Amino acid sequence: MNRESSVLIKNGDCRKLLPVMPAGTAQMVITSPPYNIGKEYEKRTSLEKWAADQKEVIAEAARLLKEGGHACWQVGNHISNGEVIPLDSIIIPAMREAGLKIRNRIVWTFGHGLHCRKRLSGRHETIIWGTKGDAYTFNLDPIRVPQKYPHKRYFKGPRKGELSGNPLGKNPGDVWDIPNVKHNHPEKTAHPCQFPEDLVSRLVLALTEPRDLIIDPYAGSGTTGVVAARHSRDAILIEREASYVAIARDRLSLPISFQKGVAA
Ligand SMILES: C[S@@+](CC[C@H](N)C(=O)[O-])C[C@H]1O[C@@H](n2cnc3c(N)ncnc32)[C@H](O)[C@@H]1O
Repeated sequence: MNRESSVLIKNGDCRKLLPVMPAGTAQMVITSPPYNIGKEYEKRTSLEKWAADQKEVIAEAARLLKEGGHACWQVGNHISNGEVIPLDSIIIPAMREAGLKIRNRIVWTFGHGLHCRKRLSGRHETIIWGTKGDAYTFNLDPIRVPQKYPHKRYFKGPRKGELSGNPLGKNPGDVWDIPNVKHNHPEKTAHPCQFPEDLVSRLVLALTEPRDLIIDPYAGSGTTGVVAARHSRDAILIEREASYVAIARDRLSLPISFQKGVAA
């Protein structure tokens, strides 16, 4: 792990652990909660109960954030008797009720997944990004992506001949094509639903600075902690299942250059 950062992993229920943490200390709360679809780490419940839990956790996240801090909730669909309910339709009002202002609804697309027979196959999920207040960090340069035509120049006017785009690249936009972490993915652990490090990295780099505190209340295999440490941010991870806590500890104990997702 990067010695310049500290990552604390707490094994427990975020609904109990968040309320005893001090207010106004975190720069970002980023997470992917269970979708209430009967995965091995959740008990299927009513959508109303799921929504009430998320409302409670989002209100806690808002309390823990500093002014100018960010909440990022990555969600997909809840499916019940063949009916599809996009969970961001519940997260957006919960964030707004908690006093957070929505800045983007980022569409995360990936090429693969289950093939549906009675509806179009799902190939995207979303990240709802909200901020506490209006004076917030947004560092675009570290997350710029290559221009389509990087050498394009103005062909007339006073700037004729100069590069017309930013040489550092362009804004990545709000549709992100990032492979999901399935069986042959280099980051894959025994956790059934990891989010990819690249997705978390973009948000960490754009919305936080080194030494900022990042909290993930549904931390799973610890992806948020791995990315935080790589970029010299501090993190507190909360995870209810001890077996996933062990995976997160293993991932975090590796030197950064040996972590699976880091290109050689
Ligand atoms: C979608 S997974 C998160 C995966 C994570 N983003 C990763 O990359 O590994 C949701 C996680 O939340 C955990 N969880 C569910 N309810 C919880 C609760 N009340 N408190 C803490 N963790 C919880 C589950 O055990 C599961 O690991």
